[in-house]
Amino acid sequence: MTNSKRKILVTSALPYANGSIHLGHLVEYIQTDIWVRFQKLRGHECYYVCADDAHGTPIMLRAQKEGINPEKLIAHYQTEHQADFADFAIGFDNYHSTHSPENQYFSNLIYKGLSDGGHIERRTIRQFYDPIKEMFLPDRFIRGECPHCGAKDQYGDSCEVCSKTYNPTELKNPKSAVSGATPIEKESEHLFVNLSNFESLLREWTSSGSLQPEVLHKLNEWFKVGLQAWDISRNDPYFGFEIPDEPGKYFYVWLDAPIGYMASFKNLCDREHIDFDEFWGADSQAQLYHFIGKDIIYFHTLFWPAMLSGAGFRKPSAVFVHGFLTVDGQKMSKSRGTFINARTYLNHLEPEYLRYYFAAKLGNGVNDVDLNLDDFLQRVNADLVGKFVNIASRCARFITNGQLAPELANSTLYQDFIDEGDAIAEAYESRDYNKAVRDIMALAAQANQYIDEQKPWVLAKQEGKEAELQAVCSQGLNLFRVLMGYLAPILPLMVKQVEEFLAAPIAWQPEPLLAHTINPFKPLMTRVNKKQIDAMIEGSKESLATPPPKPPKAPVAADTIGYEDFSKIELRIARIVKAEHVEGAQKLLRLSLDVGEEKLRNVFAGIKDAYTPEDLTGRLTVMVANLAPRQMRFGVSEGMVLAAGPGKEDIFLLTPDEGAQPGMRIK
Ligand code: 2FM
Ligand code: ZN
Repeated sequence: MTNSKRKILVTSALPYANGSIHLGHLVEYIQTDIWVRFQKLRGHECYYVCADDAHGTPIMLRAQKEGINPEKLIAHYQTEHQADFADFAIGFDNYHSTHSPENQYFSNLIYKGLSDGGHIERRTIRQFYDPIKEMFLPDRFIRGECPHCGAKDQYGDSCEVCSKTYNPTELKNPKSAVSGATPIEKESEHLFVNLSNFESLLREWTSSGSLQPEVLHKLNEWFKVGLQAWDISRNDPYFGFEIPDEPGKYFYVWLDAPIGYMASFKNLCDREHIDFDEFWGADSQAQLYHFIGKDIIYFHTLFWPAMLSGAGFRKPSAVFVHGFLTVDGQKMSKSRGTFINARTYLNHLEPEYLRYYFAAKLGNGVNDVDLNLDDFLQRVNADLVGKFVNIASRCARFITNGQLAPELANSTLYQDFIDEGDAIAEAYESRDYNKAVRDIMALAAQANQYIDEQKPWVLAKQEGKEAELQAVCSQGLNLFRVLMGYLAPILPLMVKQVEEFLAAPIAWQPEPLLAHTINPFKPLMTRVNKKQIDAMIEGSKESLATPPPKPPKAPVAADTIGYEDFSKIELRIARIVKAEHVEGAQKLLRLSLDVGEEKLRNVFAGIKDAYTPEDLTGRLTVMVANLAPRQMRFGVSEGMVLAAGPGKEDIFLLTPDEGAQPGMRIK
């Protein structure tokens, strides 16, 4: 295998910012992370970027349901996702968001490239519209009876009972899943990317030999059917980026999602002075790889390369597709407790058990990966702990004063272990991790056999055998160190412990440690216990959904006051006519309030972490109108608006019911 230094950029699919990371997601992040760690270990310049996928109707509606703005919802999930990934040792070089200035910049740029190239066309389409919510409905937000089998409560695009697909307008008795209203059909103009303009380019790219055979097969089917124009606009209301010069039209979430790969990388480049164009320029020599699940092949192998080429960027070197996760041979199920969130797993089990298990199961095809819970327990205990970790514990206890022998007891065996490294590297490179793990475990068995034959526990009891005992155990620990190097992409947390124990770095195909002093041995990993797995399943049944944080229970009210005291406070309905940033103020917004008086009131409110000026302009709230004016650093504040919450992003401004008018007194 050539080992000249490569420049590599790697991505995993961006998780939506309205749900928790679960073990199904982790198949991909663990698969990618192992590959990236392997490349870095081999000395390549490799970057791994990802981001939250923050736009779209489901996120907008979810935020509405929670009574918060979408920014707050996506901030909550971004924090949660990053904590989950960190605790599974997923080593992103950057984790960003599609709701970012970099992403808006590249979305506009790519759209302009497509538009200037004549690839955008306008079409008027008819869609279902919710007359109560006043919004067009995505297919998934329409429910009704299947036109084929009559099954009730099916989605607008496909039936879960008979598996047939159809148009939402074919559903019988359709209802909006948002408001329950009967949707009406309404026309509107949408923007489309003319994908057929890219057909020859896409055919050439797909046949360049870097896609998996199953993926190629799928693509050929799509080419046969013909490439349809792609609808990239959505109408107001939508949470996303407004399309330049198209008021009321937004980029469809799938337009700006993959651009999030570039945006996240740009964010990293700016911070670490990396040359962005070297990776994304049309003539880039760097390698670009996307790891994705089999459900989003179309977006990544047709839309995405077309968008990139149409806007003058390079195309991906390859797209690596994996299958879905099943648990005990079945689709993950909430009621069975096998829909397991990352955090629920971590509450009961070590992250590296799962990293090891997934690696042991993953090949480079698109087959589904099964997490068989009995097999999981068996493999972790028998192989990872019983075969691999055990080599270290069997030898370490006989090393006196931490001194390793000056020479290897069996240098041929050590060299055999080193030589196997090339085949193991080949397996990692081609994402055949199950083969890599098999080869490593075969070596671990050989190391154990060596120890069995040399019987250090017998030598330890014989006088005059001290040097032999030291040589045998030093040999065992050196073999263990070679294997730790091979397992390093899979077990990065254990690597740190082993480096501490051996007082030496873990590397690929290292020179042996001779006449070297090591530290006292501490257990590296304990066995899995069936009870932990059962507790995790129970825990998953309990945590069916993870709502965003709710405020803690309010403390009991303080001392009471009489009505007279209360009536001294003049509370009035106020309309926020204008809201603006205050130069130099970190927390304040300046509000111009209509409280039914001739002049507007000027009020400074410490709510900037929770609201943008756009969120506030035009809305009604409640203010204390007779608070004495207060001179502040930025001007005089003439009252106070009322809000609840602990502070920072968690501030909730009061809003009166419909009908209230500015100036009305609150009693
Ligand atoms: O399918 C999904 O979960 C999407 N959020 C993946 C986006 S990947 C990339 F295109 F951004
Ligand atoms: Zn049906």
